[in-house]
Amino acid sequence: MDIRGSFIFLVFHYLIILICSNCANGKVQTYIRNYNGEYTKRIRNIRVLKLLKENEKEIKIVKFPDPVLRTKSEDVLHFDDHLKNTIRLMFDMLYANKGISLSAPQVNINKKIIVWNGRYEKRKKENEKVFINPTIVERSLVKKKATERCLSSPEIEGAVKRPAIISVSYFDISGTKHLKILKGLSARLFQHEYDHLKGILFFDKMTQAERKKVKARLNQLRRQYETNNCCNTDKCGE
Ligand code: CO
Repeated sequence: MDIRGSFIFLVFHYLIILICSNCANGKVQTYIRNYNGEYTKRIRNIRVLKLLKENEKEIKIVKFPDPVLRTKSEDVLHFDDHLKNTIRLMFDMLYANKGISLSAPQVNINKKIIVWNGRYEKRKKENEKVFINPTIVERSLVKKKATERCLSSPEIEGAVKRPAIISVSYFDISGTKHLKILKGLSARLFQHEYDHLKGILFFDKMTQAERKKVKARLNQLRRQYETNNCCNTDKCGE
C-alpha cells in the first residue's frame, strides 16, 4: 500500500483511535471513536499491560496451595532481553521478601529458572547466581538432613533429607552451558528450587512425623487460599 492508499484507508476506516500518552505516571489515555461517531475514553496502566503481554500473568509471590506451584515448568527457549527482565524481577522479589533463593513458578512464571544470592543482604551482582534449564546429573549416595523453609509456604519449616553432593548442568543468562559440582548449602538450595520446577514442595519430602507437625498450618494456608480465590479445592495443590 502506498502513502495515498494509506491515507484513504485511515480516513475511511470505521475506527479512529487517538492516543494521548502520559508516560510520566505510567498511564495511557485512549479515545476510541465508534460507528456512531461517539468517543469513549480508556485509561490503561502501561506497566501492567507490559507484564500481562509478556507473561500473561500477575507477578507476585505465589503461595501454597496455588496450582501454579504444582505445574511442571517449561524450558527457557529464548535468551533475550525478556529473560533478563524476568531474572531482574525475580531478584527484586527475592530481596523484597528477604529470601536467599527463588524459582520462577514462585513468581507465577512456569519456566525453568532459579535465582539465588546466599548473601542477599549485600545485594551484590557478583553474589547473584542464575540457573536456567537446570538438570541434576548425579546425586551422592550420602544424604544430609537440614531444616528448610520456603517463601511460598510461610511459617512452615521442617527437616528434609537430601543428597549431600550433586553434579548439575545449567545454562547462564547468555545461553552458555555449564557443569558444576555443588555441596553444602549450595547443593541444598539447588535441590529445593529444582523441585519447585517439577511441582514438588519441600514438605512433600519430609518424614510423616515431620509432616504431622505442619499439617495444621498447611490447612490454614488452604483455607486462606480458598477465601482469597473462591477456590475449587480439587484444583488446589496437595
Ligand atoms: Co521454596
